Amino acid sequence: MLNIVVCVSGGGTNLQAIIDGVKNRTIQNTKIAGVISNNVSAYALKRAEAEGIPALCVSPGKFENRDEFNDAFLSEIDKLNPDLIVLAGFLVIIPQKMIEKYRDRIINIHPSLIPSFCGTGFYGLKVHEEALKRGVKITGATVHYVDEGTDTGRIILQKAVEVLEGDTPQILQRRVMEQAEWIILPQAINEIAAGYRE
Ligand code: GAR
Repeated sequence: MLNIVVCVSGGGTNLQAIIDGVKNRTIQNTKIAGVISNNVSAYALKRAEAEGIPALCVSPGKFENRDEFNDAFLSEIDKLNPDLIVLAGFLVIIPQKMIEKYRDRIINIHPSLIPSFCGTGFYGLKVHEEALKRGVKITGATVHYVDEGTDTGRIILQKAVEVLEGDTPQILQRRVMEQAEWIILPQAINEIAAGYRE
């Protein structure tokens, strides 16, 4: 059984797609051991609690400095003993120590076709604003492993989505979620779980 921890910051629709995938068995051999948010008011925490999944918040604001936050965050992750850490809309920079400790065991969903519209400053709605500004006709989403860079890790899955006339960033964001993110993130977890041996 692949033990996963899902890290979130906001609405948690990708977390919901994972929860649903485990329930309807499109994700097999996987258990969600816990959900960690950096933001106490993230709706994602409520989604986890509704399913009886252990959910907790580790907020950078509650610590003296970044190192203390990083240590506390890593310690909460360690307690859940994950085989895989899934960043599902998690907007905090992953501590170096954690990348080293969990190398090739952290994955992230990004709402564009990497290497377009990614890297520092490209997150959430901003990604779609920039895609619309540039006038691309195709965008999409990417699941990739997390390494030391921002959105530079090895690509696992990508899915393209059409940009349509009259799209706003919000409309495009929703289409990218529905047609790409909520499909490829569960799919990537299922594929990793299928190859996972204890
Ligand atoms: C998703 O679109 C995800 O791809 C994006 O944040 C959103 C979170 O939504 N992540 C990034 O931009 C990471 N660079 P959710 O909380 O509803 O899953």
